Amino acid sequence: MIPTNTSGPSPTSPAETLLRPYSPSPSLTLTNRVVMAPMTRSMAGEGLVPTTAMAEYYARRAGAGLLITEGAIVRADGQGYPDVPGIFAPAQVEGWSEVTRRIHEEGGRVFLQLWHVGRVSHPFYLDGAVPIAPSAVALEGRVPRSGGLEYGTPREASLDDIERLVEAFADGAANAIAAGFDGVEIHGANGYLIDQFLHHHTNLRQDAWGGSPAGMSRFALAVVDAVVARAGAERVGIRLSPGAYFNMQSHPDDAAVFRYLLGELETRQLAYVHVGIFERTTVFEGLGGTAEAFLRNHYSGTLIGSGGYTPESAASAVKAEEIDLVAFGRPFIANPDLVARIRDGQPLEPYDEEMLARLE
Ligand SMILES: Cc1cc2nc3c(=O)[nH]c(=O)nc-3n(C[C@H](O)[C@H](O)[C@H](O)COP(=O)(O)O)c2cc1C
Repeated sequence: MIPTNTSGPSPTSPAETLLRPYSPSPSLTLTNRVVMAPMTRSMAGEGLVPTTAMAEYYARRAGAGLLITEGAIVRADGQGYPDVPGIFAPAQVEGWSEVTRRIHEEGGRVFLQLWHVGRVSHPFYLDGAVPIAPSAVALEGRVPRSGGLEYGTPREASLDDIERLVEAFADGAANAIAAGFDGVEIHGANGYLIDQFLHHHTNLRQDAWGGSPAGMSRFALAVVDAVVARAGAERVGIRLSPGAYFNMQSHPDDAAVFRYLLGELETRQLAYVHVGIFERTTVFEGLGGTAEAFLRNHYSGTLIGSGGYTPESAASAVKAEEIDLVAFGRPFIANPDLVARIRDGQPLEPYDEEMLARLE
């Protein structure tokens, strides 16, 4: 008798592993496992409205199984960088509608990343107002492209502020669905507002929104639940940085917060969890390894890896079931046709920071 191989051809090239379809949720089937990572390009127009040049930039990359847009701010005070797009005003929703239309025309799928930077803002962006954060903990360093301004100390969010921030994320999700997005990614990573609640360095609160793993996770979970109520769990992903690595210092007790959070997310049936990290091999003492391995060990749903992957390293991580999907950031800036190159075994153009000056 000839044995039948029920698992299909054994993968030998990155293409065979990465270009297989994958379903993160029953209503969402991706044509391949390649994701375009969210990347701020600071090219929005007047009123933080997405432009047709942005629509064409994303449409050129529609070969990805899933595109995730650059962070789109859910409220005017969520801005920390110049010319980032918003998702809170009617003209912004209209601009995004053109982006989703072009991506869908090319056969792609796209989630919008919902963003609020919290303390990583500056009165410079807020008509003189002080940025909002879980606690009044100063951020050191200088605001990029501001002529050398230093970050300062944010004001602690009141209970009323917190309620309104949660609503802003929910409204952003509803606006994204109205603009034709296939779903939304909650930006809970990289030291921005949601992440500021999740780490001891930036959350000193002793009320219900801090003080314990459950308290420190409460804001992230409130946002998740409010966004799920507007978009449906199968259309919601979240990006997390359990290893504080950007705009943040780590603390030995942070791991307990993320263990609690991931246990709660486990019951929410989201589309995915996505690791926010620049270099996936970074080891965090407090996590006992990489951020990616920590998320894999404490969350059983779909995991998107990211941070310095090549097609080869991505294929071996998918094959080893360390991740389910892989997000490429800088390689997608340098190679709009990344998926075709993987399919054809073509070498990739190297990324160069100068490429950020143009939306190509
Ligand atoms: C120019 C640039 C802008 C970025 N903007 C965002 C962003 O808006 N949201 C986010 O979650 N990550 C952002 N990132 C991080 C990327 O999503 C990604 O995690 C990182 O670039 C590592 O992946 P890579 O090595 O494949 O580029 C940005 C990265 C770059 C290079």
